[in-house]
Amino acid sequence: MKILIINGPNLNMLGIREPDIYGKNTYDDLCALIRAHAAEKGIDAELYQSNHEGDLVDKIQSAYGNIDGIVINPGAYTHTSVAILDALKAVAIPAVEVHISDVDSREEFRQISYVRLACIATISGHGFDGYLEAVDLLSERHES
Ligand code: DQA
Repeated sequence: MKILIINGPNLNMLGIREPDIYGKNTYDDLCALIRAHAAEKGIDAELYQSNHEGDLVDKIQSAYGNIDGIVINPGAYTHTSVAILDALKAVAIPAVEVHISDVDSREEFRQISYVRLACIATISGHGFDGYLEAVDLLSERHES
């Protein structure tokens, strides 16, 4: 099974940005954690991060036909991007939305998610572990 893990804007700043909200661990730490978890499960994990909406759309489109599941934390684009929603709908690959922080208990604008409409589940507020839970969810669904 091949899973694509996509992170959107400012997630490359993990460890530096608002550590009280997102923790002190870096994006590289996150990638290492996901890679180790996927390897343990025999899953092929591809990791991608971009600060640019169009690049995120391109990456989702490129998954068509060769990726079995998508884990996506679109960062701030979660709350604004119909383009990312449409890309996920276009490829129709099972996708799980992940947020490190608990977006539902933060500002009102963070409680709106466009991508959620194209996702089979949302995991929010579980820190880095949320990505691992999303990988597990997609892998269980793939096996059944
Ligand atoms: C985030 C939550 C978003 O509201 C924010 O813009 C982010 C990160 C999270 O992982 O908690 O960049 O997606």
